[in-house]
Amino acid sequence: MSAVLNEDQRSIAELIADQKPGHALDQRFYTDPAIYELEIERIINRNWILAGHVSQLPDPGDFKVLNVATESAIIVRGSDGELKAFANVCRHRGSLVCLESAGHVDKFVCPYHGWTYDIDGKLFAARNMPDDFDMSAHSLNPVSVDVIHGLIFVCFTDTPRSLEGAKRDLAEPMAMFGFENMKVAAQKSYEIPANWKLSIENYQECYHCASAHPEYARMHTLMLDREKRERVQGKMLAKMDACGVKNMFFDHIDTAARPGEMGYGYSRTALFDKYKTGSKDGGPVAPLLGDFTDYDGGASDFSFGAFSFLLAYSDHVVAYVFTPIDHNSSNCEIYWLVRRDAEEGKDYDVDELTWLWDVTTQHDKEIIANNSKGVHSKYYRPGPFSGMERAERIYIEWILQELQRA
Ligand code: FES
Ligand SMILES: [Fe+2]
Repeated sequence: MSAVLNEDQRSIAELIADQKPGHALDQRFYTDPAIYELEIERIINRNWILAGHVSQLPDPGDFKVLNVATESAIIVRGSDGELKAFANVCRHRGSLVCLESAGHVDKFVCPYHGWTYDIDGKLFAARNMPDDFDMSAHSLNPVSVDVIHGLIFVCFTDTPRSLEGAKRDLAEPMAMFGFENMKVAAQKSYEIPANWKLSIENYQECYHCASAHPEYARMHTLMLDREKRERVQGKMLAKMDACGVKNMFFDHIDTAARPGEMGYGYSRTALFDKYKTGSKDGGPVAPLLGDFTDYDGGASDFSFGAFSFLLAYSDHVVAYVFTPIDHNSSNCEIYWLVRRDAEEGKDYDVDELTWLWDVTTQHDKEIIANNSKGVHSKYYRPGPFSGMERAERIYIEWILQELQRA
């Protein structure tokens, strides 16, 4: 800990009370392990996190692992064909059971002493245990899992927020894109040497886009002033109907959710004129999704809770999942989704499909790492937000509110 941190003896409650509205967070929110511990308890383990798409686990025994801060979950297609999730923690002495990130098994075998679990999480074999050892009392612990129109979500609490609002309100836009009928064409992890909030805050604002992302800024219109933006937005709105796209809007994390529900959001914004989709030259990179009959020149933003954000073009979807690794590093997992019947090499090329958001995320990783270095300095003082950082401001206000929710 730096000298500055040692001098600051304020409690977390005092620190929250002292937070200046409309300003970046105090240094300790990014550096203090005690605040990170509280975030794990009150935010990270209480909220749903996107863990993939159902098409990744088609058959019983197909599994993938999701690691978030101190937790790890195995998500598996069970013997009854249903998705299940278990804590990746052996009931013997606690080793991680599954070390691979995805695959197919008949049984999960703990690498430490060989305890073996079936794909429904039940203990199947344990060597040299006493006669009175109760196998049935040592199943893997269940973790909450649910599916929103094809997207798998996991939550590390037995009493998670309800997903009913998201399922109901996002049903129509998600059907329009055919989310149930997609597949993951590519998936990539980006490890970012920064506190998880810096990674998500960066995703929440496009104040930096014009200066940091020339590739993105060529096609997305978020950084335009209001008048120009309304003009391009008007052009897109005029085209949407004919392309089979409905205009809908659901506000993001702050207002959309009812009490006890996970927050969610949906909106569609115009791309610049010659861009049909998010690609190097604006040209198509995959077959049109769902109900689309043509390109309307727009892109939709979906948000699901606090960690999962999707950008849906007319021909592919880019899903972003930000998760903490520890208090000083985070992971950004990106999934590129296309129609399930699209064929690689014929209908899409992975390099073309992933180019824009790979380039943009490499830049973001650098920006966020530099941000983190400066935030650790004794000279760091929280500065004021611009008018283009509204969503980030709302996000950190939400964080502060959740930290106080016992
Ligand atoms: S910790 Fe898993 S078998 Fe011992
Ligand atoms: Fe960015």
